[in-house]
Formats: sequence, C-alpha cells, structure tokens
Amino acid sequence: MTALALCPEPDLVVFDEPTTALDVTTQIDVLAAIKEAIRDTGVAALYITHDLAVVAQVSDDIMVLKMGEMVEYGPVDQIINNPQEEYTKALVSVRSINHEEKTPTAPILSAKNITARYKGTKFNVLHDVSIDISPGQTLAVVGESGSGKSTLARVITGLLPPKGGSTDFAGRTLSPDQPSRTKEDLRELQMIYQMADVAMNPRQTVGTIIGRPLEFYFGLKGAEKRKRINELLDEIEMGDGFIDRYPAELSGGQKQRVCIARALAAKPKLIICDEVTSALDPLVADGILKLLLDLQKREDVAYLFITHDLATVRAIADSIAVMYQGKVVRYGPKSEVLSPPFDDYTDLLLSSVPEMKIGWLENVIATRKMESAGN
Ligand SMILES: Nc1ncnc2c1ncn2[C@@H]1O[C@H](COP(=O)(O)OP(=O)(O)OP(=O)(O)O)[C@@H](O)[C@H]1O
Ligand SMILES: [Mg+2]
Repeated sequence: MTALALCPEPDLVVFDEPTTALDVTTQIDVLAAIKEAIRDTGVAALYITHDLAVVAQVSDDIMVLKMGEMVEYGPVDQIINNPQEEYTKALVSVRSINHEEKTPTAPILSAKNITARYKGTKFNVLHDVSIDISPGQTLAVVGESGSGKSTLARVITGLLPPKGGSTDFAGRTLSPDQPSRTKEDLRELQMIYQMADVAMNPRQTVGTIIGRPLEFYFGLKGAEKRKRINELLDEIEMGDGFIDRYPAELSGGQKQRVCIARALAAKPKLIICDEVTSALDPLVADGILKLLLDLQKREDVAYLFITHDLATVRAIADSIAVMYQGKVVRYGPKSEVLSPPFDDYTDLLLSSVPEMKIGWLENVIATRKMESAGN
C-alpha cells in the first residue's frame, strides 16, 4: 500500500494507522520501509496513530489531539521526553497496571493436543497445542499474525471442531462442536471480540443487548431483568443512562464495555478475549484492562487473553503461551516466559516491541543487520 501511494510521486502521503493491526515483528519491517520511503523520496508525511512509541520512531513533529482539539504540538523530542500537558504526560506513561502473577492451580480449562485444519485446506494450522488455564487467572496467548491464536479460540468455543485432541472444561469434556454443547457449557464459556462494532446488532439498544443472555440463560424478564442490566452497567462503570442507547451512539471503549457486560451477564467461568483492546487508543485500552482485572478479582473469572501486544501481556497475564506457526513454542508462568534465556522466536518478539525512545527503530535494525552478517 505504501508503494502504491508513492507511485504517482506525491508531495504528501497521509498514513492512517498503517501498522495498528500488525503484530510487532511485522510492524517493525513496515515501519522501517515507511521511514526509508520518506527519506529516499523526500515526500512529506502525515502519520496518524494512537501509538506514541511508533510515532517516536517515524516523526519529526508530533501533534496530540483530544476530542477534536489540539492539546500539544512540537518537535518529537519535546513531546516524548518533556511533555508539557497532563494529557500528553498520561499518554507517554501508560501501562501503569501492576498485576502480581498468581500461582497456577488445578485448571478450569485444559486443551489437550489440539490439531486443527480448516475445511477445504490441506494443512493443519494447529499442531499438538496444549494449554491449561487456572480458575480466576489469565493465560495470555501471543504470537505473530497467522500463528493460530484465533483458530485456537475457535476450537475451544466449538466453532471449529478439531481434527485431534480434546478440551476439558469445569470437570467435563466439551463436545467438539458448538451446536451439541449443553446450555451450561455455552453459558460458562463466553467470548469477547476485537471489533466491538460488528459483535453487536446495530438495531438493538444496549439494554436489549445485555438483556438477551439474562433472558436466555436465567429466564429474567421485566423489572427483574432491568435491575440486573443496571447492575451490569454499573459493573462496567457506565451509568443506567446508557440503557436506551444504540451501539452507534457509543465510543469505541464504551462499545467494548457493553460487550464485556454482555459476556458477564452469563456469569461465565471463562471469557476468551480475542484482541479486545487492539482497536483502542492506549488510555482507553488501559481502562478496559483495569476493568477486566477488577472483574476477575470480584467474579473469579478466568481469561484466555489473545493479543499481539506484549505491553498488555505484561500488564495482565499470570501465564503466557507463545505461538509460532501453529505450535506453542514457549509456555509457562509470566515471570519465566519473559525472562532469559529465550528461544529465537520469543527473543525476536520481545525485541520488536517499540520503545518510547527516539532512535529505537534504527538501533534494532542495525543490531539485527550486524547479527545476520555475523551468522
Ligand atoms: N476460515 C479459514 N479458512 C482457511 N484458513 C484459515 C481460515 N482462518 C484462518 N486460516 C489460516 O489459519 C492460520 C491461523 O490463522 P489465525 O486466524 O488463527 O491467526 P491469528 O494468530 O489469530 O492471527 P492474527 O494475529 O492476524 O489475528 C493462518 O495461516 C490463516 O491463513
Ligand atoms: Mg486472530
């Protein structure tokens, strides 16, 4: 897409979040390519992103916007290293969550030797994947795009029956396909998606959306249902003023909160979160992570948390599974997985997370060139 934009030899290119959906190992190559293209062609660039660590790598000047107003504007060095405004300071210093890792206990969910393949394809996309999740704890699944994270979620939720292996949940073996699962299984295993937008019916109000599982699983109606909806809105820190609003009338963070409330309505034992904060800016994402951690403490719910954001993993995980090409290549408690010695892939993954330092990108690329020349 960058090459395409540069073809007509423009004077200005606008980049609108070009790397936001990419995992860190892919992002680094794209960032380097964009930076090189800007330098070599002399084109001016307007680079839009919610990731300040990225912006620190590619920009000369930064403007910080909030609710349509300019908060701060200046050279990259000033904004990153010496921000003047409170909002910019908060942006630069997010990821303040401090989560103490818990010791694993007897698992609530245990996926064993899962092998999976999509219909009409010739290759397995999951190879012998095994993971355990302890009650009330978080297993983070990380890995680059296409490594099989969402496929694992599909297998566990029964949307893609596996070719081999099985999943135990809350003391019973789950039926491989969703339609033949019991109502109890469906209720106790919930899922939240990356795109809150498409996960909600735009014609239903917040009250209707949250009310459906209350009716379906618990038969709640009328005043009783309304009372419970209000309690859930309270839990996600949104007032009951939201009950009659439509998804289109909510911000991205609020939409994701409603999806969380809908999952909680079922009183689940495990929630699978697939990239639930990836589409949000860092401050809003932090709010969602804090909420999820609070809810975990209160409701003792376990999370299988799929993300390509390692800062998020550090913030919330108890244990971590690193996936690469359909296999779990590293697995264990957070403190062990994130401590050396690393396998090659985990090393690459960890060293690819952008740091809020000017010149970080050049350094990483120079180091890697030296290493590959040395080999
Ligand atoms: N419906 C499908 N049919 C065939 N192949 C698929 C399908 N969905 C995914 N795949 C393939 O399965 C592999 C794993 O994909 P998956 O969506 O699980 O990756 P992921 O780790 O979730 O990636 P991302 O971080 O981009 O979401 C990829 O090679 C992908 O091309
Ligand atoms: Mg995915």
